[in-house]
Amino acid sequence: MSCTGGGIGWTGGTTCDSGTTCTTINAYYFQCLPGGSGSTTIPSNPTSTTTSGSTSTAGGTLNSKFVSHGKKFFASAADSGTLNIAKNAALLQSQFGGVTPENSMKWDATEPNRGQFNFGGSDALVNWAVSNNKLIRGHTLVWHSQLPSWVSAIKDSATLTSVIQTHISNVAGRYKGKLYAVSSFQLIKFDWKLSGYRPKFSEIFNEDGSLRSSVFSQVLGQDFVRIAFQAARAADPTAKLYINDYNLDSNNAKVQGLVRLVNSVNSGGKLIDGIGTQSHLGAGGAGGVQAALTALAATGCEIAMTELDIAGAAPNDYTTVVKACLNTPNCVSITTWGVSDANSWRASSTPLLYDTNYNPKPAYTAVLNAM
Ligand code: G3I
Repeated sequence: MSCTGGGIGWTGGTTCDSGTTCTTINAYYFQCLPGGSGSTTIPSNPTSTTTSGSTSTAGGTLNSKFVSHGKKFFASAADSGTLNIAKNAALLQSQFGGVTPENSMKWDATEPNRGQFNFGGSDALVNWAVSNNKLIRGHTLVWHSQLPSWVSAIKDSATLTSVIQTHISNVAGRYKGKLYAVSSFQLIKFDWKLSGYRPKFSEIFNEDGSLRSSVFSQVLGQDFVRIAFQAARAADPTAKLYINDYNLDSNNAKVQGLVRLVNSVNSGGKLIDGIGTQSHLGAGGAGGVQAALTALAATGCEIAMTELDIAGAAPNDYTTVVKACLNTPNCVSITTWGVSDANSWRASSTPLLYDTNYNPKPAYTAVLNAM
C-alpha cells in the first residue's frame, strides 16, 4: 500500500493502492485495507485540533474524546439557519464529528408537491458537511409529521407504495456515494456519514408499543416498514438503515414493541441496521437509559442516540446518558439536537450543552470529563 495510515498528525500519502480502500479506525487513524466500499482517498480527519470555536480543544473535543472510546461520532442537528451563525458553525467545526439536518430533509421540505423535489436546504447541509469532513445522519425519509397533505390524502395502497418508493429513491438517491463511508436511516428518518448516508424512519409507535396511526399504517399496515426500507436499500445499498423513535428512554412497552418489530422485519434478512433513540429527556430522566440501550442492542442492531437534549441540562443527567452509550458496545453515536440553547426547539428548557451566547455550560465540561 502506498499509504498505511491517515488522520490527526498523518503526513504520509493520501491515496490507497488499487484494491484497497480507506477505512476509518478512529478519528486519529485511517488505514487502507483490502476490499470494502470506501474511498480510495484518505480524508482529512473529521475532528479538527484547531481551536475555531469559543471552546479550547486542547483537552480534547466532544467528538475526539467520544471516538477515542471506539465510537463513531458525536454530532449535532444543523441546517442553513444555524450554519449561518458564525459562533454556532465554529463549534460544529471544532467540537462535533457529524450533523443531522434538523428540518431540511423532511418530506415537506424535499417533496412539497408530488414529483416536485426541492433540495436547496438539504444540499446546503450536505455540502457543508462534506466540505468540513463531518458525518451526516440523514433525517428523515418517512415520518407521519411534517408530511405534506397530498401524501396524507392518499387512500389506496398501490399509489402510496409508489409514492413512498419515488420519494425515497429521489431523496436517498440524491446523496448516494457523495460521502466517504456509510451510515444509517430512520424508518422514518435517516443517517449518513463518511460511510455514505443512512436514511432513518421514525416515530411509528404508540407509547404502548403498537403501530402509530398514520396514513402509512392505515393504508399499508406494518408492511410500509418493509416497503420503505427496501426502497432505501435499493437507493443506497451502502447506507445503514435506521429506525428512529422517541420515548425509548427506559425498558418500557414501546422499547419492547420496537424490538419485536425490528426482529420481525429482520427475520427475512437484515433490512434494519440500526435503531435511533431520540432521547428528548426531562430533568432527572436519564435513569432508565442504560436499560433501554441494553434492550435495544439485544436486536443485534447498531444503536444511536439521535436527538439528545435534556431539560435543564444537569451535568449528572448528561453524564448518565453518555456513560450509558459508552458502556453499550452497539451504541455508536450521540447527536445532540442542536448546539446552543439559542436555537433549540425547546429553548425554554435550556436543554443543550452551550448557552445562548454559545459558551459551554457545566454539562459540557462534565461530558468531556466523563469521556
Ligand atoms: O421555516 C418556517 C418559517 O418560515 C416560519 O416563519 C416559522 C413560523 O412558525 O416556522 C418555520 O418553520 C418551523 C421549522 O421548525 C423551522 O424552524 C416550524 O414552524 C416548526 O414547527 C419546526 O419545528 C421543528 C419540529 O421538528 C417540527 O416537528 C423543529 O425545528 C425540529 O427541531 C423538530 O425536530 C423533531 C425531529 O425532527 C423528530 N423528533 C422530534 C423533534 C422535535 O419535534
